[in-house]
Amino acid sequence: MPVSMVCGLQWGDEAKGKTTHLLSEGMDYVARFAGGPNSGHTIVTNECTMKLHVVPAGIMREGVINLMGSGMVIDPVGLMGELRDIQAEIDYRGRLFISEGAHLIFEYHRYQELLDEKARGKGSIGTSMRGIGPCYADKINRIGIRAGLLRDEGRLRRILERNLKRKNKIFEGQYKSKPLTIDEVINPILETIPTIKPMLADTSRIAHKAVTEGKSILLEGNQGILLDLDHGTYPYVTSSSCLPASGMSNFGLSPVYLTKITGIAKSYQTRVGKGPFPTKLEDDTGELIRKRGNEYGTTTGRPRDCGWLDLVALKYAVRVSGATELMLTLLDVFDVFEEIKLCVSYELNGKKLDGFDPDSGILEQVKPTYKSFKGWKEDLSNTKWIEDFPENAKKYIQFIQEFVGIPINMVSIGPDEKQTARRRE
Ligand code: GDP
Ligand code: IMO
Ligand code: MG
Repeated sequence: MPVSMVCGLQWGDEAKGKTTHLLSEGMDYVARFAGGPNSGHTIVTNECTMKLHVVPAGIMREGVINLMGSGMVIDPVGLMGELRDIQAEIDYRGRLFISEGAHLIFEYHRYQELLDEKARGKGSIGTSMRGIGPCYADKINRIGIRAGLLRDEGRLRRILERNLKRKNKIFEGQYKSKPLTIDEVINPILETIPTIKPMLADTSRIAHKAVTEGKSILLEGNQGILLDLDHGTYPYVTSSSCLPASGMSNFGLSPVYLTKITGIAKSYQTRVGKGPFPTKLEDDTGELIRKRGNEYGTTTGRPRDCGWLDLVALKYAVRVSGATELMLTLLDVFDVFEEIKLCVSYELNGKKLDGFDPDSGILEQVKPTYKSFKGWKEDLSNTKWIEDFPENAKKYIQFIQEFVGIPINMVSIGPDEKQTARRRE
């Protein structure tokens, strides 16, 4: 199994970090291919709880080599903080490589996003404010700056000065706001160069060599299918692709090597930021899910909206992602529930819809229909085998599995990697 992937199937925060850490045991490489510090992946080990943003989750496992790929956007200053946190727990040196082709986030990206979001007013997207959208826009517009340029300080300064002239025209002219100075933009970056420069590498080439030598690579997805730029609930999406297929091309690895895609879904639905959410619960039940699931953003601390698991959306995400198996996470959140519901179809103007349409205008209007399940009222958090779950939990899992059409091979019942129930062989 040379190349496998972990992929979020909802609106992010499905526990990709935990899953990647779990599956990284015995892996040679773990790699990220897109997204940036909008991600917040939590890993709980015996020793610590680590919140990672751009560094792959394999960093928490000794011996695993970690690659940050060319589809990513990286804030060098934020990365320094992340590396300090990691180094306090585990030695990452010599185990982390950053693609020369990854794009860099600068102060003007964050500033532009702040002004853009303010200008959108009621139509704001509720972004993570990490400069993601403006950085990817510059990449597409071919004025982005790639990590490889950190090797040439003179050229970096010249291109930053040129870009800043353009950006300041927008800040001052369009937004009537103060301009940024070149020192504000470049000085914090210059301090990061001695640390980052030795890690710059051709990550595509490293991965290709590894695969041809029979080594194993696990790719860690970012965000989730419903936040995908093309197939998510546009415009309430992120600015990169979250699809496994594009993950391979973003990383620079042929798609023919990908043999397994582990799709991750929570046992309920959450969303942080704005956008349609058909199964959202704005009552005590939603509050109980938030409390028990600790549903507050890893990156921004914002409370996540919570609701029943949306199987219509999940089936769509399974199709679009090509997930070959499902890991169901945070099932323990329901341990105290009397009743649990699953959304099994949508109605629009009294008519049942044929599957999921990611069009935000439609999703805002659909009415979910639910199937109700009895709770199990038991602590699941130490169950080792799915077969040993109480009957009511098994019925819930079985229904999801049959609905989406791929096997649920793992069920997560706590943040720790050991709190994962598997199937008896
Ligand atoms: P990611 O962005 O997909 O990696 O997910 P996050 O780390 O942002 O959010 C998942 C949260 O749920 C983290 O705080 C995890 O520690 C926690 N978590 C993961 N799996 C479980 C689980 O099965 N049960 C509970 N209660 N918490 C979990
Ligand atoms: P992980 O990898 C949850 C959401 C933001 C916002 C929208 C656009 O931890 O699952 P952006 O800053 O990307 O331009 O914001 O996408 N978003 C996430 N929500 N988990 C994430 O990442 C997210 N990354 C972006 O809240 O609604
Ligand atoms: Mg997260």
